[in-house]
Amino acid sequence: MMRIDLISAVPDVLRSPIEHSIIKRARDAGFVDIQIHDLRDYSTDKHRKVDDYPYGGGGGMVLSPQPVFDCIESLQGEHNYDEVVFPTPDAPAYEQQDAVNFSMKKNIIILCGHYKGVDQRIRDSLVTKEYSIGDYVLSGGELPALVMVDSIVRLIPGAIGDAQSALSDSFQEILLGAPVYTRPADFRGMNVPEILQSGDHKKVEQWKHEQAIEKTKKVRPDLYENFIQEQQNQEWQQ
Ligand code: ADE
Repeated sequence: MMRIDLISAVPDVLRSPIEHSIIKRARDAGFVDIQIHDLRDYSTDKHRKVDDYPYGGGGGMVLSPQPVFDCIESLQGEHNYDEVVFPTPDAPAYEQQDAVNFSMKKNIIILCGHYKGVDQRIRDSLVTKEYSIGDYVLSGGELPALVMVDSIVRLIPGAIGDAQSALSDSFQEILLGAPVYTRPADFRGMNVPEILQSGDHKKVEQWKHEQAIEKTKKVRPDLYENFIQEQQNQEWQQ
């Protein structure tokens, strides 16, 4: 079973999302074990302090090395970890391919930074992978960590019914999704496209593919370019 350890100074922020929906189902079914660790439990300070002022000034608070080193070293004493992940805005972009790679690992630690950042020695000595979830700044690493956990867990083979198809569809990661509908077929005069009601599986798949291409071309020309490139590469290889 895959194991994900989340380390945070505000562990309560992490609880609700991992106790609901697909992540809960995957945990209940034994596909993933997610453990939350309160950084304050590892502080040797009598007030359970985990942060301090930055050298050289600049305002804000920086996560101190002591509780983070003690926490991660304690976990590493009990399990072998493939990666120690640190979400941070000053890092390469986190992408679907990273989620795919993580979903095939055994044990990972995700360290949530808070306040202004973490002491650089933590990043130099303990962290093995750093990612930004986008070009905006959040107040802590908890939401990015949850984004990563969600994106990883839904890919664990068997964790959700159609995880296999999510991985095997070659364009899934390149194109945006086609529009989806549920009942009723006529809602206030707005109708579900005829083709989706036709029952012709082949035609439906073709329609979805075309819709996905159109949508991607319109809203994400950068992804559309990648798709065209990828198609040309595949034709070249044939
Ligand atoms: N921590 C704060 N902002 C972040 C971001 N955009 N990505 C990852 N971690 C972060």
